[in-house]
Amino acid sequence: MPSFFVETFGCQMNVADSDLLKSALRLRGYEASEKSVDADLVIVNTCSVRQHAESRALAHIAQHAAHKRQGSRDQTLWVMGCMAQRLGDELSRQIKGIDRVIGARDFETFLLELDSCLTSAGPKGPSAAGNPEAVVSRFVPVMRGCNNHCAYCVVPLVRGPEASLPAPIVEATVRSYVDKGAREITLLGQNVNSYRDSGMDFGALLRSLNRIDGLARIRFTTSHPKDLSEDLVKTIAELPKLCRHIHLPVQSGSSRVLAAMNRKYTRDDYLRLIDIIRKHMPDADITTDAMVGFPAESPQDFQDTLSLFKHVRFTTAFMFIYSPRAHTAAAAMGDDVTAQEKRTRLKELIDCQTAITKELYQAMVGKTLSVLFTVRQEGREKLWMGQDNGCKRVLAACNDSLAGMILPVRAVRSSGMTLLCELE
Ligand code: SAH
Ligand code: SF4
Ligand code: F3S
Repeated sequence: MPSFFVETFGCQMNVADSDLLKSALRLRGYEASEKSVDADLVIVNTCSVRQHAESRALAHIAQHAAHKRQGSRDQTLWVMGCMAQRLGDELSRQIKGIDRVIGARDFETFLLELDSCLTSAGPKGPSAAGNPEAVVSRFVPVMRGCNNHCAYCVVPLVRGPEASLPAPIVEATVRSYVDKGAREITLLGQNVNSYRDSGMDFGALLRSLNRIDGLARIRFTTSHPKDLSEDLVKTIAELPKLCRHIHLPVQSGSSRVLAAMNRKYTRDDYLRLIDIIRKHMPDADITTDAMVGFPAESPQDFQDTLSLFKHVRFTTAFMFIYSPRAHTAAAAMGDDVTAQEKRTRLKELIDCQTAITKELYQAMVGKTLSVLFTVRQEGREKLWMGQDNGCKRVLAACNDSLAGMILPVRAVRSSGMTLLCELE
């Protein structure tokens, strides 16, 4: 039986694309291989958002290619995703041994032509192996691309302009996942709040998905602060299946930097939005993305980010050092902040947020949470991973399978970013 190995870098969009490809391969008789060296087909799904993401992917691709050239096995190596889009055939010139480069924008067309791209024909029909437990939680892309052109960001360049998927297709996809055992879906888009399909906006899409029987939880990401309206916040608060979690990337706490980033909101706009969310959903988890060291970020600009973090008290945050990307507006901006200073700022921000996350998790100890359990923790037979109705990660011990169950649990201990719980 032919086998595949897929390695995924980057955001949930890429995870969703990789999942689609994996199931398409399984349908054609391929089975998953545990190690890349044993696979007939090795696929690397790449990200371009920061230089670090590209460098890591490049190193992995080079390693697969080297093994392929030396190995006895006849292997095929494909590179897909955002870096594949950005570098195109230059990639196969740089690294010898890549058989195919599939840019993020060509992925859907590629899936339709997959049969003609597969050299080793598998046995007829889907492989039995590889999917023993139903997938409890699924990613569902509802939009592709982005129109925002934040000054630092490569995503619109590699993923192209924004396009919403037709609502009937989104609904059919969600129903098919629910039929196969999914209890939770996460709707994906770079800016889901601007979803629109023939008069249907994001709130209307949420209301229609909320009616699907068997579906227990709906999540979505990412919300852009400029497009998250109070009406939408109210809709989320009212719908019973919508989780109490909003990921709202702030990027910076300084209005001056936000303007230079072309984010189209100020620090005060953002803080007003936080108040609106807390008014309608006092218990919601709010999480964010932020970067330090945007070109010419002053010490005061950085203090503004730090003070915003202390004020809002995000449940968790993704924090980065700004990474210049070719052909973006920010790449041409003058910068006078040293790399060392940027690292110091990142550490200070991470330390600040880590302390807040710990306090918020600690405050949950003794409380009862409603948790959807998804999978076993790797290598631990009896430990089940799950998430509460917000974004808090939970572990609970149980001899029987908890996959797909929503159960009340009591938090007994916090280990920083995970709550250890007991079934009630
Ligand atoms: N569409 C989402 C996120 C896209 S990328 C949004 O608008 O928020 C995920 C995160 O990567 C961004 O929120 C940002 O914090 C970070 N990011 C994007 N480009 C970056 C760059 N050039 N350098 C450092 N971080 C970057
Ligand atoms: Fe990038 Fe901005 Fe679009 Fe997010 S909204 S993907 S940060 S351009
Ligand atoms: Fe990376 Fe592409 Fe996502 S650049 S963050 S994988 S959209």
